[in-house]
Amino acid sequence: MSEREIIILDDAKALSVRAAEEIVHVSGEAICMHAQFTLCLTGGRTPADTYSLIATRFHLSVDWKEVQFFWGDERCVPPDDEASNFGLANRTMLSKLPLSPAQIHRMRGEDPPAAAAAAYEEDLKRFFSLDGGELPRFDLILLGLGENAHIASLFPGSPLIHEQHRMVAEVEVDAPQRHRITLTPPALNNAARVMFIVAGEGKAQAVKNVLEGPEDPSRFPAQLINPEEGTVIWLLDKAAASLLSGSLSG
Ligand code: 6PG
Repeated sequence: MSEREIIILDDAKALSVRAAEEIVHVSGEAICMHAQFTLCLTGGRTPADTYSLIATRFHLSVDWKEVQFFWGDERCVPPDDEASNFGLANRTMLSKLPLSPAQIHRMRGEDPPAAAAAAYEEDLKRFFSLDGGELPRFDLILLGLGENAHIASLFPGSPLIHEQHRMVAEVEVDAPQRHRITLTPPALNNAARVMFIVAGEGKAQAVKNVLEGPEDPSRFPAQLINPEEGTVIWLLDKAAASLLSGSLSG
């Protein structure tokens, strides 16, 4: 089991500030170590405040020319669509930072899903100079958590839960924006660091199931996250942590 840290913050605001601080901290380490920071963003609504804080309060704390942005998943919609994960990150953060287009590796949600997934896999191979079965190693992957314990677009019962070879795949899910593109478990678990950002009472049962429930990644996909040579950090607000037993909730 990889090293796991659980940090509980008072509320969603404090959670967003802590998440932004962690991202800035890891960016400094990565740029110091290898002159580059590869950050894989999450979709959903929860990270919006964190992204805004980075662009407004922490923007002077990161050497932006050394940062490369990627996504863990995308909904198959155009980039300016309200439901686009790229669109959310662009509106709240990327459009406000001194970045060149080459630093933004978005999943092309507007293209046919299979073609978009294949193109993203090629982009990862090119950027990380991968050959054979090698996997990308992101410095930091951000993940949200669905109320059904899904992560990225890896939903309960998804065939991708057992994916061993592909890094990126198209998938159909039982949720709005059915057609998605997502990183697979092997690509997620090759990261140096994975950080969950989870807020709200609506997520409390999912958090409990994943952290204290029976080991069953097909029912609780977030249990898949176990980077062999990496660490996992759970940032939770009190509401999301409200069902955890004392041993975990400290
Ligand atoms: C997506 C996400 C997904 C998200 C969870 C939580 O594209 O929907 O990547 O995995 O993180 O659904 O979403 P909220 O933050 O909106 O609750």
